[in-house]
This record gives sequence, C-alpha cells and structure tokens, in this order.
Amino acid sequence: MNKKRILTGDRPTGQLHLGHYVGSLANRVRLQDDDDYECFFIIADLHVLTTKPEKRYIQEIRRHTHEIVLDYLAVGIDPEQSTTFVQSAIPGTYELNLFFEMLVSVPRLERVPSLKDMARDAQLQSMPFGLLGYPVLQAADILLPRAHLVPVSKDNEAHVEVAREVARRFNRLYDTVFPEPEGLIGDVLVGTDGQTKASKSLDNVIYLADDAETVERKVQRMYTDPNRASADVPGQVEGNPVFIYHDAFNPDKAEVETLKDRYRKGKVGDVAVKERLARAINDFLDPIRERRARYAAQTGLVEEIIHHGNQRMRRESEETMRRVREAMGLQAPALTPISKDGHALLAGLIYC
Ligand code: TRP
Repeated sequence: MNKKRILTGDRPTGQLHLGHYVGSLANRVRLQDDDDYECFFIIADLHVLTTKPEKRYIQEIRRHTHEIVLDYLAVGIDPEQSTTFVQSAIPGTYELNLFFEMLVSVPRLERVPSLKDMARDAQLQSMPFGLLGYPVLQAADILLPRAHLVPVSKDNEAHVEVAREVARRFNRLYDTVFPEPEGLIGDVLVGTDGQTKASKSLDNVIYLADDAETVERKVQRMYTDPNRASADVPGQVEGNPVFIYHDAFNPDKAEVETLKDRYRKGKVGDVAVKERLARAINDFLDPIRERRARYAAQTGLVEEIIHHGNQRMRRESEETMRRVREAMGLQAPALTPISKDGHALLAGLIYC
C-alpha cells in the first residue's frame, strides 16, 4: 500500500523551544508511529534568506541546522522511520518554485498576514519579492514529496492554504499530479512573558535544550496574574501563562486542579505554583535532554542523517519533477543544476 506523506519542517534560525513542541513537534512524533503515514522533515534554509539575506546570518545556518536535527532526535523523531533533509540540497525545489510562481497572484500573496509580520519583525523597510513568495516556496516544499498532511503551527495555516490553491490550480491547468495538502494545526503556546506567542525574537521561550536551572529561572520570572499583590489574594487562573503551561506540561492533572483551586481562593503563592511548574517542565525535558546529549556525542551522526535524507528526498523530487514536466509538456530536465565538474549538484547551498 502507498502510504500518505507528511511534510513539515523548520527554518534553521535557532534552537527549538516549547512553542515548537506544542505547535508541531508533538504532532510529528505522534504521526511518525502511524503506519498510514511516511514523514518528511525539511530544514528550510532557503526560507531563512527571505528575511535574513546578510552573510552573518548565512554563516549561522550550518550551526542552527545541526542544533535543529539534534532537537528532532531529542524529541523522538526516528531517522530510521522518517526523512530529514535540507531544502537547498534538492534541485527540484528551485524548479518547482519557479513554475508555481506563475500560478499565484501578487494580491493573493499580499493578503497573507504572516508575511507582513515577518517583514516587520525583521525590520525590513519594504516587502522583498522573495518574502512575498515565501508561501510559494513553501508550497514547493510541501508538494515536492506530494504530501497530504502538513503539521504546522497556527501562523503557517495561511501558507498551507496557498499550497492547496497552487495544487488545485496546477492540477486543473495541466494534469492531476498533486494531492491537496491539509494542514494539521497545533496549539499556540503563550510566551513566558504573557505575550500571545512564544517566539525566539521576543525572548520569551524555554528551549528544549535549556538546563534545569535555566528552566527554574525562566519559570520564576514568568508573567502571572498582575493584580495579585500577595499569596492570600484570590488569583486569576484563566489566561494565566503559569497555568497554561501547567495544563500543557504537568501530567499530574490532580495536582494542577488543586493548585488552580487554591490559587483562586488565595491559598497558594505564585512562587509555589511556579516551583511545581518548573519541576513538571524539567521532568518533561529530562528524557529529551538525555537523548540530545547522547546523540550530540555521536560525531558525524547529524551529517549522516542529512546525507541520507537528501538522497532519499532527491529521488522523490526527481519522480515528482518527471510528472510535473510531463504534465506541463516540458522537456526533461529543465533546470538541473550542474556543477563545474559535470556532476549534478549533490550538496545543498549550505549543508552537506
Ligand atoms: N514556514 C515554516 C516556518 O515557519 C518553515 C517551512 C518551510 C515549512 N517550508 C515548510 C513548514 C513546509 C511546513 C512545510 O518556519
């Protein structure tokens, strides 16, 4: 039986944090064990360039890629079962992106809300052409392995919608090559500062690789009910980040309910509630840290995973591009990058 494909991934801009976990990693780990699916994970290095084209950022991509693959392994992604690859190492990405650029209008892309946020966060004066095309490139990522399911966080929902439209448009114009991919939208985790979103640029995150003391420090500084002057004042539980994190990471539901009850009645202090939370998060992260350390100690492991992932994905990409060119009535291969010595470009721009 042909398994359905999952494709998702991350831009290599830093280590992954608890927000990534609830937004997408938890779904990935769960679905990896589902026999109906085959998983592809993309390290989207080309997408980094849409907001960070400067050389100093490019120089960091290799290190971030390494960290992210370690984070994947640490949360339980199994390289035997899934394919992890680098976007820039797949020639089909560039070619399919170009074909897809003809199938989406500029006003359509201007309505994608996340792009304006990204431009603002990156302090860009105006919208770069490439950033406007971010969802188109992402559609190429998703459709290159002909994925059916895309586990992403809320801020990527509109991008998956663009990918669906591109797939429909392609299939209608040429021939049915692509499934219409569906988003699987994870939960949004608030920041430790109470801002709506945990995000590295807001510096309000707990990283999967944070050590126990760092977690304790970050939790003790967490935003909580601002109107509560002392422990004997009734506190607000709903919308309180400390309790949102308890709900997400404390498996002892009875303890959480008791703490909520006492908090509402002014019978427990914030420090005590936070101590319990730090303990719960550390219990959650302990096996993740342990696996991370074990994998990090294996020299060459990450490189090998990416090397195999790239090879696997290139084969998949070649098959898709064969179907794409056939549907479009193009000669094969239109745009296979060839290096000076005549070999097809087998390395990514940046990694392996
Ligand atoms: N846009 C994703 C992010 O926010 C990264 C990404 C690139 C991606 N290509 C993808 C996610 C394809 C899912 C599927 O970082």
